[in-house]
Amino acid sequence: SIILIGDEGSGKTNILSRYINNKFQTDSKTTIGVELSSKTFTINNDKINAQFWDTAGEEKYKSMTAAYYKGALGALVIYDITKKQSFESIDRWISDLTNTADKRIQIILIGNKNDLEEQREVSREEGEMKAKGYNIAFMETSALNGKNIEIAFNKLVEEVYNNFRKEFESVANVELMRGKTITIEETKKKRKKCCDKEAIAKKFKHEK
Ligand code: GTP
Ligand code: MG
Repeated sequence: SIILIGDEGSGKTNILSRYINNKFQTDSKTTIGVELSSKTFTINNDKINAQFWDTAGEEKYKSMTAAYYKGALGALVIYDITKKQSFESIDRWISDLTNTADKRIQIILIGNKNDLEEQREVSREEGEMKAKGYNIAFMETSALNGKNIEIAFNKLVEEVYNNFRKEFESVANVELMRGKTITIEETKKKRKKCCDKEAIAKKFKHEK
């Protein structure tokens, strides 16, 4: 599963709805707690249902949303390029996440609302530097016009897939993508059924 975190109003809900059903709302309500969306991918002819957890940015939901960090294999950490404060919160979001989540979690830093160039408070370079400091990917997006949304998610899903493929057999990885945790023991048992990893990787493509 993949989690979206960041300050309230940074655009998490709209980024996800743009990705899942190509929708944007100018007057979207603040998220309460956590909301689940999912999208189906095909890996080696097996349908994978990847889960995306959209969390509330508001501080009062912090303990509730942090409970979802543990199961996350990937994360989009999002700030609003027109709000310096949301960028300054990034260190805290990342440290909270990495303190709780799986050590191999794949993270992408997202500077959202890059359609609002004239209100920009955080330069692209600052975003790039921040991501470099954590050795994570970086992208500026716009949920409003859709810029880089699909690319960012595809990149992350692919990184999650590749990263966890290295350490688990693909069958186990499929289970992980479905949001289940699976032990090494089960992985070994399933190894027989497994096939050529390179071929699986090649076949890994998104369902449009
Ligand atoms: P919480 O659920 O409170 O944590 O906020 P959120 O991060 O989910 O933000 P949300 O997606 O609700 O967006 C907040 C506001 O920003 C809404 O009014 C959106 O319409 C607007 N917004 C989100 N993304 C963009 C964007 O890329 N460009 C512009 N111009 N506005 C955006
Ligand atoms: Mg929201």
